[in-house]
Amino acid sequence: MLKHVTTSTFRHATLLLLTLLLGVGSAYGQTPIQQRMAFYNPDGQLTFSAERGETLWKKTNIAEDGKVRRCTTCHGDDLSKSGKHAKTGKVIDPLAPSANAKRFTKLKKVKKWFKRNCKWTFGRECTTQEKGDLLMYLSQF
Ligand code: HEC
Repeated sequence: MLKHVTTSTFRHATLLLLTLLLGVGSAYGQTPIQQRMAFYNPDGQLTFSAERGETLWKKTNIAEDGKVRRCTTCHGDDLSKSGKHAKTGKVIDPLAPSANAKRFTKLKKVKKWFKRNCKWTFGRECTTQEKGDLLMYLSQF
């Protein structure tokens, strides 16, 4: 009887420990883009949607010069391929994390380009919700 209790207690403790380890492990095991999403949702209050992100990513805006502007204008329609800067013609490496391991690894860079690109494309900065939705969409590639 005593032996039985001890064994099952031990089993419980082992399970608990495993669960804890897995929990901690998954926090460290996040991909860079998941880490960036966590930055925009520190308290877990927001829910990000890949669908909303996709809509925004493909949204067409007409700038003051009458030209169409979209995120894809520079990043292209195929995220696994290189894009081309609309103004300078410079090649932009693929934005898909699966095609480009450097993508979303630096928070500073993500912040900087969200700011610039949302302004250029939409004429305003993106909200936190929108940034999270965009990242959720981009994380699928
Ligand atoms: C006028 C061209 C242009 C447009 C339009 C554009 N981008 Fe970019 N984007 C760039 C360039 C240039 C970089 C930086 C160079 C690089 O990372 O290869 C960049 C980088 C980024 C990054 C940083 C990725 C990383 O590795 O950290 C994000 C995020 C991003 N763009 C999102 C967007 C979103 C969202 C839109 C639409 C609102 C958009 N871009 C529209 C040119 C553009």
